[in-house]
Amino acid sequence: MYLKSKDLLGLKDLSADEIEFILETAKTMKLILTTKNKKTPHLQGKSIVTLFYENSTRTRLSFELASKYMSASSANISASVSSVAKGESLIDTGKTIDAMGTDVIVLRHPLSGAPHLLAKHVKASVINAGDGMNEHPTQALLDMFTIKEAKGDIKGLRVAIIGDIYHSRVARSNIWGLTKLGAEVCVAGPSTLLPPGIEKTGVKVFNTIQEALIDTDVIIGLRIQLERQKKGLFPTIREYARFFGLDEKRLVLAKKDALVLHPGPVNRGVELTSSVIDCDRSLINEQVTNGVAVRMALLYLLTRRRSNEDIN
Ligand code: CP
Repeated sequence: MYLKSKDLLGLKDLSADEIEFILETAKTMKLILTTKNKKTPHLQGKSIVTLFYENSTRTRLSFELASKYMSASSANISASVSSVAKGESLIDTGKTIDAMGTDVIVLRHPLSGAPHLLAKHVKASVINAGDGMNEHPTQALLDMFTIKEAKGDIKGLRVAIIGDIYHSRVARSNIWGLTKLGAEVCVAGPSTLLPPGIEKTGVKVFNTIQEALIDTDVIIGLRIQLERQKKGLFPTIREYARFFGLDEKRLVLAKKDALVLHPGPVNRGVELTSSVIDCDRSLINEQVTNGVAVRMALLYLLTRRRSNEDIN
């Protein structure tokens, strides 16, 4: 099996079979990642460039480590220290990277649709590492991998996504992916942070965290995105934490074996209390480990696809 597209732009565009295929490949990559010798030749002769117009710790580092573990040549460009700061456009920057024989460009950009635009202008495969408020497909894939690893299957699970749904590309990608794999997805947050018409995507919408937590198998807390907030969407951080923060008292409303996920970085004491972050049902550290395995799988599958002349 091969992925249909040369690029990974969003889970909206992937079939359930393609998502399952990526998650199965990531299982093998996790075995490699957790052995003492992490070096494999899967990407020998390939080059990967991470192009980040926004800050990142997890996504950028995990792509860079995934590239290195699989023997690729890898490099990073941050917009602030590149010719982007001299006014070069995204397309010209992309074409420059492409002309150096790059196989995969991993792009994070504050504007929704930027990876889709870049993908049309370069021969390299483009991976969306988060575009504005649109999608963060590799985050949702690692979330799904983590859930599947812990629960065995995603089909039939009830997953509650709590918080700033409006600004969250993580929520959008998870809604596409989890519903395609047969989960029941609920969302809850202040009404000003719920996108109008969100119920049309097939999710159940709640205005209180308590309602969303009842009988839930998995809780995904979302970061309050202070950098994308317009004033007045919620009164104060303290008020937000009081009404939508997840603490141990509220966690009791979910199933006894409910899991807690968060894409990070977490605002401790706002979205989750420290005791929830560090409890044995929190899989936040596993998500980080699995992020490397999922990104190894994607780099491998996209470069393998490029190497196969029949489908290029
Ligand atoms: N979850 C996530 O995208 O984290 P970073 O911003 O640190 O990459």
